[in-house]
Amino acid sequence: MADLEGKIALVTGAGGMRGVGRATALKLAQRGADVAITDVRRETSDLPPAEVREEWHSIDSVAEEIESLGRACLPVYCDLSDDGQIQGMVGQVMDRFGGIDILVNNARAIIGRDKVPVTELSREVWDHFLAINTTAVFVCTQVVGREMVRLGKGGRIINIASNAGKQASAMGAAYSASKFAVLGLTQASAMDLAEYQITVNAVCPGPINTDRMSYWERGLAEEQGVTLEEFRGRIVEEAGRRTPLGRIAEAEDVANMVAFLASEDAAFITGQAYNVNGGLLFH
Ligand SMILES: NC(=O)c1ccc[n+]([C@@H]2O[C@H](COP(=O)([O-])OP(=O)(O)OC[C@H]3O[C@@H](n4cnc5c(N)ncnc54)[C@H](O)[C@@H]3O)[C@@H](O)[C@H]2O)c1
Repeated sequence: MADLEGKIALVTGAGGMRGVGRATALKLAQRGADVAITDVRRETSDLPPAEVREEWHSIDSVAEEIESLGRACLPVYCDLSDDGQIQGMVGQVMDRFGGIDILVNNARAIIGRDKVPVTELSREVWDHFLAINTTAVFVCTQVVGREMVRLGKGGRIINIASNAGKQASAMGAAYSASKFAVLGLTQASAMDLAEYQITVNAVCPGPINTDRMSYWERGLAEEQGVTLEEFRGRIVEEAGRRTPLGRIAEAEDVANMVAFLASEDAAFITGQAYNVNGGLLFH
């Protein structure tokens, strides 16, 4: 299916080898879009072990995959905690492609340091989570939204939120607050941009089978004397057992929802927050 032929997509946080951003960028490219992808440059110590082992090169590796599908790709490194870098990144995408039809706000702060009771959560970690998970979504929506309005061709903005944006859990104050806020931002932006035929929706995944970096998981794995990957495997299995459909999400499950929301078939849907969670949560 090439229903996104002629469209330009921008996906943030797209450099992870098994991340939702990469799966989404590839899905949109398979559906015909040309894709700009962005990520922050990360220290080797902040990368999942498989990415180091397999010499994965973040968005440069993803760009090669997209180009091998016959689509144009622009990888741009950008730290989303810096508004100036966001403006520069969007400027580069506009110079290269002349427009942006689909924005996927997917990046998030590296998790783990937030996994403490609210009484122990540091102000620094709180600020960082809000900066990447919420404020950067606002800034990208504003900067790209202005271009969409100026070009007058409508658009799609898709924010990757979480189950945790609808139902908080212990030791999740910063993460949940940041994702609940994304749902409020999604609804308000949808109303502001509706007159321009720009739809704004959120996707709320449950646990996903990624090898995302988590400082918390790495610490527990060390304590238990197992590798991070073994530890992660156990979490994935346990979470799968708790999920009515018997497994946790694959990154592609989330990418499929994004591709639908980006398509013409979703033209009349805005301000919504769709769960992709195998039946874990219903509201
Ligand atoms: N993995 C899960 O189980 C899960 C569950 C529910 C929701 N989600 C959501 O799905 C989305 C993707 O999840 P994932 O597990 O693929 O992501 P991830 O944890 O691998 O991180 C996404 C990307 O964000 C980038 N990033 C981190 N800090 C950045 C910064 N300062 N500037 C720019 N980019 C930065 C990372 O480099 C990474 O490539 C996120 O929004 C996440 O909250 C994930």
